[in-house]
Amino acid sequence: MTAKLILGKEVSEEIYGELRQKIEALKAKGVTPGLAVVLVGDDPASQVYVRKKGEMCEELGMKSLTVKMPEETTQEELLSKVAELNADPSIHGFLVQLPLPGHIDEEAVINAIDPSKDVDCFHPSNVGRMLIGDPDFLPATPAGVQQMLVRSGVETAGKHVVVVGRSNIVGKPMAAMMVQKGPGADSTVTVVHSRTPNLAEITSTADILIVAIGKPRFVTADMVKEGAVVIDVGTNRISDPTHPKGSRLVGDVDFEEVSKKASYITPVPGGVGPMTICMLMANAVRAAEKVVG
Ligand code: GUN
Repeated sequence: MTAKLILGKEVSEEIYGELRQKIEALKAKGVTPGLAVVLVGDDPASQVYVRKKGEMCEELGMKSLTVKMPEETTQEELLSKVAELNADPSIHGFLVQLPLPGHIDEEAVINAIDPSKDVDCFHPSNVGRMLIGDPDFLPATPAGVQQMLVRSGVETAGKHVVVVGRSNIVGKPMAAMMVQKGPGADSTVTVVHSRTPNLAEITSTADILIVAIGKPRFVTADMVKEGAVVIDVGTNRISDPTHPKGSRLVGDVDFEEVSKKASYITPVPGGVGPMTICMLMANAVRAAEKVVG
């Protein structure tokens, strides 16, 4: 079998089309959805992500605010910026880009964000609401994966979904979402991780394998069932002297071999990547819609 590709660019374009209509409808009611992104320090990867988020906001005709704070920012200063954004009626949603410098307590910052503006869905109250099946927001990357499955016509009900990885940003919320009742979910879910002894045995039973373990080409063809749907959330930069930059991006899945066995697969780059910003924008629009009522 040669796998069909699920491309984040295509799926996200479809969603952006829907978001543009929602933004127009909000503007007709006098509301321009506003998203703020706070960046502390000058981590190069974070700078790229933050710039892309701002650009996408503007492309969609939303209000975009990028708040850059120096590496030496104190926790108190950052918490005071969070309080200011919580109180700003023109900002419907915001996020503080992670990771934060070591001297700042990330948990304290996330806890200080007004849950109704928490477009990352990292606040414990939003994580809890997602878990009980009453979400306001869904976390962007797992929500993007779910949209890729739904919009590619992949049946999830009653299927065995194996999630590889247990991070708070992807693995845990992904598992929580797929086990819910409803479309794009209703799955039987197993989570495996670095301490699972018989990991390959379990991944080989997956109808849908979602991999977010952060190890380049960790999942090899022998770990995948013939005809499985394989979603690769990993982005790892590996050195490659044959490449002009001396390095290139690979996922957590051995794409070349696994794509011969899977029915559907997401490439890296071009797979899940574009979905994260798209679903963040969807959350910002949703935050504005809630205010309008
Ligand atoms: N750093 C890497 N991914 C994310 C994300 O989705 N949200 C935030 N706030 N920081 C990140």
